[in-house]
Amino acid sequence: MSILKATAAACANIAFIKYWGQRDVELNLPANSSLSMNLDRLTTVTTVEFSPDYDDDVVILDGREERGEARQRIVAHLDRVRAMAGLRAGARVISKNSFPTGVGLASSASGFAALSLAASRAAGLELSQRELSILARFGSGSACRSIPGGFSEWTAGTCSEESFARQIAPPEHWELRDVIAIVSRAHKRVGSTEGHALAPTSHLYQARVASVAGRLAQAKAALLEKDLATLGRIIEEDAISMHAVMMTSRPPIYYWLPGSIKLIHEVQNWRAEGLEVYFTFDAGPNIHLICQAADQAEVERRLRDIEEVLEVIVSGPGPGARVIEP
Ligand code: PMV
Repeated sequence: MSILKATAAACANIAFIKYWGQRDVELNLPANSSLSMNLDRLTTVTTVEFSPDYDDDVVILDGREERGEARQRIVAHLDRVRAMAGLRAGARVISKNSFPTGVGLASSASGFAALSLAASRAAGLELSQRELSILARFGSGSACRSIPGGFSEWTAGTCSEESFARQIAPPEHWELRDVIAIVSRAHKRVGSTEGHALAPTSHLYQARVASVAGRLAQAKAALLEKDLATLGRIIEEDAISMHAVMMTSRPPIYYWLPGSIKLIHEVQNWRAEGLEVYFTFDAGPNIHLICQAADQAEVERRLRDIEEVLEVIVSGPGPGARVIEP
């Protein structure tokens, strides 16, 4: 039997238009389409090896053997790949993040994108970018946007075959920066799987879903025109809309901490002073500041003066998922 082993790398991504809530839980179809940028500093590298000699799947993340729920999610993903390839073999998965773990940064997007590519290649499958994006979506919705490089749009679709991400501009299209200010290293209390399920309990949810398409069209046009003033305003509106849904669901989810709110106000002050920077958040307290490359150093300098900021991580537009070996 030939060697069933492959290594792949993939970046995390930051959504400019967010995915929060699902149309179909089984198929992981989102309630709305979304738009994102891959983050070149936040990369996961994953090696998958299948062998009939392995009785069980072993999963090692950042040097630690995973058990329980985290392992189960990965085993379920390996099962999808095994079913596609008609393979019966145990797997060894070794995955490493280039960014500090436990700082509240999402690793599921880069993780499931890298796992989808490494596992499918190791199993002898040559999937198209569309097929890979669909596969990654089953692992974690946002992972489907980490398959193409640069800036991507994930079309919600009404069936599995239609719900995948495609590139709308390559990484070199625009020297944007995501300057992430870490204000808490605590593990989040409510994960996104639970959060998506709670979203429809918010009285604001339907209004959000109904209004996303308009924001997405405007954001996409602004991105293609490199119009940061328009894009930034929409990015902020969409992040606030998602967090308003989170805070009004039953039970409510409050991801922000005092440092998060302080930084929202600082960003508004800095903009009034002429520094062009906008904010967004994922499902957590850490704020992502979006600016042009020319303003990155100034944004970083200001962030480092703020007591609540524990760490700053800067990313530019990153590449798509890629095979490293063999
Ligand atoms: O991919 P998931 O299920 O972890 O959901 C991601 C949700 C957000 O990060 C909050 C928004 C997004 O579109 O990335």
